[in-house]
Amino acid sequence: MDAKIYDLINDQINKELYSAYLYLSIADYYADAGLDGYANFYQIQAQEERDHALIFRKYLLENDEVPQLKAIDAPDKTFEGFMEPLQAAYEHEQYVTSLIDNIYKAALEVNDYRACQFLQWFIDEQMEEEDTARDMITKMELFGDDRHSLYELDAKLQGRTYQAPSKLA
Ligand code: FEO
Repeated sequence: MDAKIYDLINDQINKELYSAYLYLSIADYYADAGLDGYANFYQIQAQEERDHALIFRKYLLENDEVPQLKAIDAPDKTFEGFMEPLQAAYEHEQYVTSLIDNIYKAALEVNDYRACQFLQWFIDEQMEEEDTARDMITKMELFGDDRHSLYELDAKLQGRTYQAPSKLA
């Protein structure tokens, strides 16, 4: 594997684990605020991010490369109000999209079509993640000021359950 592609994919393991940390911190914020459905949603989001890290790890191992695990930064955001974590999540997903795009571009430059094929799943996933993050903001804009509606929104998010992605199988 090209050294640059290895470094980018290895770094992405770290970025995805940081994403899990960030979402756990968001889950903690909502749990503390009494919005257990939002807390559940972001705790599951954290599990998905850990899965993304494991998928990158698996890809390296399956290509005869050994991951080098690095220290994970602490999430350093503080939130004021129910909207701020949602905006932080959306901005973070846009950032992750840029990282995935960057790996794809680098893979194309060295004719690593296998990596491009592998990354396609993440390109699709990022579209979904951004869409979901935007939807969370829209719903809070529409209903967040009304206590009854917020209660219903929160109750709905309580129903989200974790499912491991097929990529991990
Ligand atoms: Fe692993 Fe939410 O991107």
